[in-house]
Amino acid sequence: MNTFRALLVSKTDQGQHAEFIDMNEDQLMPGDVTIRISHSSVNYKDGLAVTGKSPIIRQFPLVPGIDLVGKVISSKNSLWKAGDNVVLGGWGVGENHHGGFAQVARVKGEWLVPLNPGWKPEDAMAVGVAGFTSMLCVMALENQGMVPAHGEVLVTGAAGGVGSIAILILSKLGFKVVASTRRLEETEFLKSLGAQSIVHAAELNVPVKPLAKARWAAAIDSVGSSTLANVLSQIQPEGSVAACGLAQGMDLPTSMAPFILRGVRLIGINSVTTPLPLRHLVWNRLARDLDLNKLASLTTTVGLTEVPKVAAKIIAGQVRGRVVVDVDR
Ligand SMILES: NC(=O)c1ccc[n+]([C@@H]2O[C@H](COP(=O)([O-])OP(=O)(O)OC[C@H]3O[C@@H](n4cnc5c(N)ncnc54)[C@H](OP(=O)(O)O)[C@@H]3O)[C@@H](O)[C@H]2O)c1
Repeated sequence: MNTFRALLVSKTDQGQHAEFIDMNEDQLMPGDVTIRISHSSVNYKDGLAVTGKSPIIRQFPLVPGIDLVGKVISSKNSLWKAGDNVVLGGWGVGENHHGGFAQVARVKGEWLVPLNPGWKPEDAMAVGVAGFTSMLCVMALENQGMVPAHGEVLVTGAAGGVGSIAILILSKLGFKVVASTRRLEETEFLKSLGAQSIVHAAELNVPVKPLAKARWAAAIDSVGSSTLANVLSQIQPEGSVAACGLAQGMDLPTSMAPFILRGVRLIGINSVTTPLPLRHLVWNRLARDLDLNKLASLTTTVGLTEVPKVAAKIIAGQVRGRVVVDVDR
């Protein structure tokens, strides 16, 4: 493609602004694989990057979009050849390297994984960084020995991307899932994904006690702040929490009590620099343990031009499930 469409975020003395431009391949950053992108997705971090609400973008001007799927146009990397279907998430793409909100990307071959066999490109972006992180969280809990017989697993931020895919995976694996949401109107939706019951997020946003009634065998938290602190104080002895997000806040007003009096384990999850062997394992597990029909039921598709609008909505907590971006629309 001589020229292609891209969303470019620039910064001036007046602040940051996003605009659609025609780019050419000479404007791309260094890399050894050039990809014709078909889809990207809108993650919470993309919302922060496009709206400028947090300093996610560390090099301006930049094409945001922390994940993408597409076909290799050309490759100087022996791992890939023209025509390969590839998936990328993390590695600073959309933060300090041009990302997925464009029709073409040039990246390092080592950042890429193959599209799962039998999957459509849009399936990979319905998962995206959010769903990849949900599976990282599930695997982290499994590594601590968690099995369904241990009891209920709480998922916070349940109607969001990480939360809704975590519910799908956990329920398929036989866990009893309790979904915490601020949007009780999404109760039927969350139950359709496999949640057995719902708690209002306000119950987890109360003054934090060092220890509260032990309710959950484990939890996946994408909210952080006092929600995570309350979750920790409600985990059963020897239970684990996989913490990946900060939709409520970066702080964690907890105490040592859950850790030393109940042996609770807090596991941090980082999807940006997940080593390649683990990335392959995660995508293999997603191929096995994610129901693609149910994944479609939590996914909306928008065109590239709608990204700024969706970015504002995801920061306002108004996006349900996942939003795939068709970059040709
Ligand atoms: N560590 C990593 O590698 C990694 C990877 C992916 C994502 N993340 C982080 O995980 C978080 C979720 O990402 P996402 O893409 O799933 O975002 P999302 O789709 O916007 O989901 C976040 C959900 O959190 C809940 N929420 C939002 N604001 C809240 C608030 N102020 N108080 C309480 N709950 C709130 C909402 O759920 P309800 O409407 O159900 O209440 C919202 O849908 C973000 O912080 C993101 O940066 C981290």
